[in-house]
Amino acid sequence: MTVPGTLLAIETSCDETSAAVLRRGAAGPALASCVILSQDVHRIFGGVVPELASRAHLTTLGPVVDQALAEAGVSLEEVDAIAVTAGPGLVGALLVGVMYGKTLARRLGVPLHGVHHLEGHLFAPTLEHPDLAPPFAALLVSGGHTLLLEVQEWGRYRLHGTTRDDAAGEAFDKVGTLLGLGYPGGPALERLAATGRPGRYRFPRPMLDTLGHEGPDRYTFSFSGLKTAVLRAVQASTDLDADRADLARGFQDALVAVLVEKAAMLVEQRDLPVLVLGGGVACNTALRDAATARLAGTARVVTASHRLNTDNAAMIGAAGWRRLSEGERHDADLEARADLPFPGLLTSPEPLGSPR
Ligand code: KG4
Ligand code: ZN
Repeated sequence: MTVPGTLLAIETSCDETSAAVLRRGAAGPALASCVILSQDVHRIFGGVVPELASRAHLTTLGPVVDQALAEAGVSLEEVDAIAVTAGPGLVGALLVGVMYGKTLARRLGVPLHGVHHLEGHLFAPTLEHPDLAPPFAALLVSGGHTLLLEVQEWGRYRLHGTTRDDAAGEAFDKVGTLLGLGYPGGPALERLAATGRPGRYRFPRPMLDTLGHEGPDRYTFSFSGLKTAVLRAVQASTDLDADRADLARGFQDALVAVLVEKAAMLVEQRDLPVLVLGGGVACNTALRDAATARLAGTARVVTASHRLNTDNAAMIGAAGWRRLSEGERHDADLEARADLPFPGLLTSPEPLGSPR
């Protein structure tokens, strides 16, 4: 098994065109550069327009890769491995990166790995916390996914909870739209909520009651009812400008309470020493602070910097690095898949009281 010396990583699953270079360091891969180009065009439409995303990736991926190589101070010929997001995501957007990665790998004669985007989010903190090692609990919260996992070892992930409807980031974005905040809603909603009064709006904490039972829904999330409750409150408001910040605060408090309580319960049940927060919603300071406070004295909360929690190629490089080091390579038949299954995800229930 050959550990890469210089790995080029590419991410084009949604509306960020990103490339990164990782180099072999003493304690694993070290990040040499990471370029992230956010496609602003989608703001006009209030959401990602798939066709526009693919076209923008097509025109910018080449220059973004060149910039990542230049910032790392390496030439294309020095690249000896390539990692690219193969899914899940927008298939047209993924295709641009996968075709680029495959073509380059073939031209350079180097190994290629097609990375699962969420495994990328899971690996993001390892670039800044190289000591992070399983076992740990992980809450991956992005625009498209909400997963509560127990990472038993790298590549072996037990799924304890997911969402029945909206993902956590999707709920932030939809409520952001209800409050007139534009896209994406998460960061703007967090800023607004910071000025809101706690408790003025107390929204339901969906699925929190299932925590008390050992049933299959113990760690299940659901955010569409919360979104509807906010919608009703917005409709009932006679002065939205005056109420907006309090509404944002009420929504964020409810969503964060559910995420933190379920993740903390898993940590306690399984006696895990660490909770990793990953994905775009892990940028939310209220979430990070609430998780840290709830688990004080029990477990460490680890998360990447904002830049590495939102979509970027560095995290794809970190996940790909590990799989390539273990000899897992893809060939010219690598496909972009909107519904790529999470590799190593164990979904069958395991009695929660049993030892790891
Ligand atoms: O992981 P990510 O960059 O892309 C996906 O894989 O989906 O996550 C994007 C999501 C969006 O829904 C965005 O609104 C949300 O992360 N987000 C936040 C914050 N920053 C980004 N949500 C809440 N608070 C934030 N500070
Ligand atoms: Zn993502």
